[in-house]
Amino acid sequence: MRENKIIAEGKSKKIYFIDDDTNFMVFKDHLRSITYKREENIKGTGIERLKACIYILNLLEQYGIKTELKDRRLKTFDNEIGMVVKPVRAIPIEFIARFYAAGSILRLYPSIVKANQKFDPPLFKYDLKQDISIGGVDDPTLNESYIVGLNLLTQNELDECKRLLGQVAYILNKELDQAGIRLIDFKIELGFDKSGNIIVIDEISQDCLRANDMLTDTSVTKDAFRQMKSDDEVLESYKRFNKMLIRKKNN
Ligand code: C5P
Repeated sequence: MRENKIIAEGKSKKIYFIDDDTNFMVFKDHLRSITYKREENIKGTGIERLKACIYILNLLEQYGIKTELKDRRLKTFDNEIGMVVKPVRAIPIEFIARFYAAGSILRLYPSIVKANQKFDPPLFKYDLKQDISIGGVDDPTLNESYIVGLNLLTQNELDECKRLLGQVAYILNKELDQAGIRLIDFKIELGFDKSGNIIVIDEISQDCLRANDMLTDTSVTKDAFRQMKSDDEVLESYKRFNKMLIRKKNN
């Protein structure tokens, strides 16, 4: 690992090229909520997201779901801590599943949706990854007809993505439930590996999940940030998520 070419860098992540079959993903201490107009660096959140992400991707692998993860453990490269991943071609869609009503579904459909309403089976939503500066809307929502008709995916590929979203939803919900955490909703990203398989890519962490400690009904993920909690409280929430989730397995 000598080359340190950065092939992608955003506000919350950085990806290094290692070799033709290997990249290295680093999580930065950055949080942003466009809806709540808050953007900050909160020291320590990057490593907590990384720990959660590696734990969750390993868990999915144990269930036979292919992910971007190439090495089961957290690694150091160029004095940065991150995870070793495969090169992938990302699908420009955020795949979202909701178990309870919160967030955008409440803001957009108040005439038919009540706060905390349960969805069984979970609802699926597909958002196009498109920056707010392009069309004035952040990640506009697609439907299945748009996804296929606009050539983002073939029908078969979309069916496979939906199958994966359903599997991830089942596994995450079960795992968090066992840890005393109520899963409200989450987002995953999917992409193609070198052989053309659709796999789970990118981050699954406190930043992509809405989830509460069942005992206190307080957020252990990014809602703590959206609820304008202090930086220390946000970091504590992120740590608590990992303590509850990862400690559970060691008992
Ligand atoms: O915005 P919305 O309420 O539809 O988000 C649903 C879930 O997807 C939330 O857990 C949110 O954190 C996650 N999400 C995300 N990144 C986005 C959009 C949503 O992680 N760009």
